[in-house]
Amino acid sequence: MSYDVVIIGGGPGGYVCAIRCAQLGFKTALVEEADLGGVCLNWGCIPTKALFSATKLLHQAKTAAEMGISFGPAKIDLPNLADWKESVVSKLTTGVGMLLEKGGVDVMRARGRLTDSGGVALSTGETVSASRTVLATGSLPVEIPGFSFDQEAVWSSDDALALREIPDRLVVIGGGVIGLELATIYQRLGSAVTVIELLPELLSAVDLDRRTISTLKRSLQAQGIATLTNTAAQGWEQTSNGINVRLAGGNIVEGDRILLAVGRRPNSIDLGLDAAGVEIDPRGFVVVDACFETTAPSIFAIGDLVPGPMLAHKASAEGVALAERFAGGSPELDVDLIPQAIFTDPEIASVGLSEARAKETERAILVGRFPYAALGKALGMRAGDGFFQIVADGESHRVLGVQIVGAEASDLISEAAVAIRNGLTLEALAETVHPHPTLPEGLKEAAENALGRAIHTANR
Ligand code: NAI
Repeated sequence: MSYDVVIIGGGPGGYVCAIRCAQLGFKTALVEEADLGGVCLNWGCIPTKALFSATKLLHQAKTAAEMGISFGPAKIDLPNLADWKESVVSKLTTGVGMLLEKGGVDVMRARGRLTDSGGVALSTGETVSASRTVLATGSLPVEIPGFSFDQEAVWSSDDALALREIPDRLVVIGGGVIGLELATIYQRLGSAVTVIELLPELLSAVDLDRRTISTLKRSLQAQGIATLTNTAAQGWEQTSNGINVRLAGGNIVEGDRILLAVGRRPNSIDLGLDAAGVEIDPRGFVVVDACFETTAPSIFAIGDLVPGPMLAHKASAEGVALAERFAGGSPELDVDLIPQAIFTDPEIASVGLSEARAKETERAILVGRFPYAALGKALGMRAGDGFFQIVADGESHRVLGVQIVGAEASDLISEAAVAIRNGLTLEALAETVHPHPTLPEGLKEAAENALGRAIHTANR
């Protein structure tokens, strides 16, 4: 079987690259051993967001009495909730299959491995040859000494999302994105949650300002999620009434289940990389140049497999950019301008430079903020917690970075991403009329605040 492009891995990097390659006229094959959609659709972004939304409803119903509306005690039918979440996933994975088929991509349900000659050997016994091979095999959760995933006591994020049970006490190891998103969901489902984080701060892998993290920490505390920072988890024992997690220094945290969320590693093992001449770095990431080409000619890699943020939308953007390069284009993809959205309560979203990083560049900067508490729409939503922050160049007023912590931050960040990507200024945002009352008014007001002319908050 001979193709123009063969792609290994059908996640948001691989399947998007395949569709774009086919659109551009390349004869394309996609090799996937599991369900289409990868971690994002099957065991990551999509099931997490389905459960985030379901448990948000639970939380809103429980607290609706302050608006004068009361319900009886909420009942959670866990198998039904799991089925509903699966139905959301399956709509999307089926859709991806249809898009690939309609686009003319040949999908091969098998495990793929590079051969010495640069082809792809399939677990079905066949071999696919192509002018170009793209590796898009994603990432896997990591284990640490003292903790191995066993699907029972020590869960990976996959186990947490399988929704087999709601433990009375959940100990989350790792105060990063996955740990905190799942802590939020399980707390709302009724678990008593303790998060153990090795470093002095939560979410330290993301470029967030202290103020943003402090807002989140206050809210986590109010929700009853305990956080222990600067704390190393060393091991665990089963006891007669649960699990004891041993901490450095001798203390113990009691629980019923452990969720280990201490990072992910590139899925670069057993791909035949060595034989094909594809180099990996000491952390297992495939080494690529600015055009995503590996150290082996005509073999490319994208997504979680290569350095950079492990985000589905980054993988998809790389997939499209690579396909367009194959067709002779030279699209620019600035990894520093890839937004991040974190589904905690409140949500956090950011794009571009934090205030701290902008200061490190030693240029003069302008910073503006606007609180959710001053937005009429937010108060009506019972979402007065949080703020918008905008950082701009002090001379040109071009927007450099935005952080939003508060309701729907994940949806609100895109306006900021467009502004930064297109070199817009504070004035451009401040002078664009935003409908009232809406949440995006917060970004406009933050821009006005940076310019010293905000109407609805004291100026800096
Ligand atoms: P992470 O790197 O965000 O967080 C892992 C945390 O575990 C770190 O804060 C680290 O200091 C801590 N840790 C490491 N060893 C520890 C130990 N022995 N004891 C206690 N804490 C320890 O990794 P995470 O949350 O697993 O996510 C993996 C990747 O997936 C990240 O790149 C993340 O950005 C991405 N992701 C992004 C999402 C989003 O943007 N909404 C959602 C889910 C994942």
